[in-house]
Amino acid sequence: MKDIIKLLDNNREWAGRVRAENPDFFRKLEKQQSPKYLWIGCSDSRVPANQITGLLPGEVFVHRNISNQVVNTDMNLMCVLQYAIEILRVKHIIVCGHYGCGGIEAIMKNKVSGLLEHWLDNVKTQMSKHRAITDDRMCELNVTAQVRNLSNNTIVQKAWKQGRELHIHGWIYSISNGLIKDLKVSQNELKDNPVRRSR
Ligand code: CO
Repeated sequence: MKDIIKLLDNNREWAGRVRAENPDFFRKLEKQQSPKYLWIGCSDSRVPANQITGLLPGEVFVHRNISNQVVNTDMNLMCVLQYAIEILRVKHIIVCGHYGCGGIEAIMKNKVSGLLEHWLDNVKTQMSKHRAITDDRMCELNVTAQVRNLSNNTIVQKAWKQGRELHIHGWIYSISNGLIKDLKVSQNELKDNPVRRSR
């Protein structure tokens, strides 16, 4: 029980500290959230979106799952995506993977079964296309693949067709030094639309 009580104590301390620094902080947030970013990251406890990007509550809409997968049949993510794009009108979607991702490593070492194996099916397909690849490189390629999945997604494509500003970024985080690397695979327009491309 001690473990849990500690969290509630921490919370009271944190809320008090925030209020002391900025008395209006919670009142403002109560009225609305208007984050500019949607974060799609790994559930790994070492990669917390707000902390590693220095963002406060209200500044980033977050979806996390094992190995930061973008699967078009994932109702949870699809609802997050629709809400973020159509209601919150975020301008940036960040797919952030990390080196040493347990899900990726398990697939690479063929050490996963059951539901998890099914969940990471995309990674398996991706892996089969590359021979003698390192775990780190696979973590990067996984991010790139999810950026591609997003840019082919109907909700994203609809926003682009409407001329909305929406950027998709692929990042990778290093647990060993706390730094994020931009994989430079950003997408911000319909690839098959020559009018938009020529602008
Ligand atoms: Co992970």
